[in-house]
Amino acid sequence: MSAIEAQDLTRVFHVGDEEVRALDGLTVSLERGRLAAVIGPSGSGKSTLMALLGGLDTPSSGSVSVYGQELNGMTPQDLAAYRRSTVGFVFQDFFLLSHLTAIENVEVPLKLAQVSRTERRERANELIELVGLGHRGDHRPQQLSGGERQRVAIARALANRPKLLLADEPTGNLDEKTGHAVTEILLNLNKDRDITVVLVTHNPELANQTEVQFRLGGGKLQQKTVASKEIVPSVKEPEIDMAQDQEPVEITQSTPAKVVILETGFCQAKATDIIHEVRPDLGLFDIPGILNDLPFTVLNGVEREKAEELKKRFEDADCVVELVNTSELK
Ligand SMILES: Nc1ncnc2c1ncn2[C@@H]1O[C@H](COP(=O)(O)OP(=O)(O)O)[C@@H](O)[C@H]1O
Ligand SMILES: [Mg+2]
Repeated sequence: MSAIEAQDLTRVFHVGDEEVRALDGLTVSLERGRLAAVIGPSGSGKSTLMALLGGLDTPSSGSVSVYGQELNGMTPQDLAAYRRSTVGFVFQDFFLLSHLTAIENVEVPLKLAQVSRTERRERANELIELVGLGHRGDHRPQQLSGGERQRVAIARALANRPKLLLADEPTGNLDEKTGHAVTEILLNLNKDRDITVVLVTHNPELANQTEVQFRLGGGKLQQKTVASKEIVPSVKEPEIDMAQDQEPVEITQSTPAKVVILETGFCQAKATDIIHEVRPDLGLFDIPGILNDLPFTVLNGVEREKAEELKKRFEDADCVVELVNTSELK
């Protein structure tokens, strides 16, 4: 059975009057237990593909099946269960909870999966050891370096023993040296466990060490390479640098602030109302239920002043809110 079968995936976004074809008829497959890299210029659809594989987003047309689970037609509840049981996510920005220690951050998805307290602690400790942070388990994110934070995020992504690990530019915010330790962990993951790993990366060191490489361009698969042997030279046209053709939207880099709402109880419903209300004029990108259904909502692309104002409104609605300054994450 394949780990991934994606057929003719198309994802169209409507921004004002404009139509953005983030993916435009992409077909990819990957055997289970493989380590694959997704490469390609900014705006070529890499993150969109990851969101579709991870059940964070649904395609405009086409189909995705992961370990035999057909995602099309799943209800939001089914998708949530799929994410919890099958997928682990690692993002460029770590998304750790700053008021929790490293161990406690790893425990969050276990809590949501209702794993008992003893087993939770035991598994979190093992995972923190696995990523080489045994001596840092009781540190909070601010007391850790960028590379260490990302290692905590990897441990958290592995907590519920996913079959598929999706990492979107995991070393994108790290310098070469700290990125190296993270790279090593990711490269070794699927040797030690029966897990399929898909990495989006601009880091040639990382990409060159993977078994399979998918090169995207303009929302299409330009090339699939298996262990340095090219097998699908599907499109001849030269690599398109989307960044030159159109305004690049590298969302995380252009945003001065992010509003991270840590939803609890009533907050969830109220926050959804506020987001719904503010979204049109802000053109927000919101990602509800990200990170294996950690109860976060992340609002990207919010100007600092607007972010402060939103923070206050969410707090008035009994939400726990954090403002994340993107520049501080680097
Ligand atoms: N939520 C969204 N709304 C509107 N446009 C989007 C959204 N997400 C991505 N896009 C657009 O889709 C294209 C592909 O984006 P993305 O998948 O993030 O590319 P990459 O990760 O390769 O840089 C870009 O042109 C981007 O602006
Ligand atoms: Mg991206």
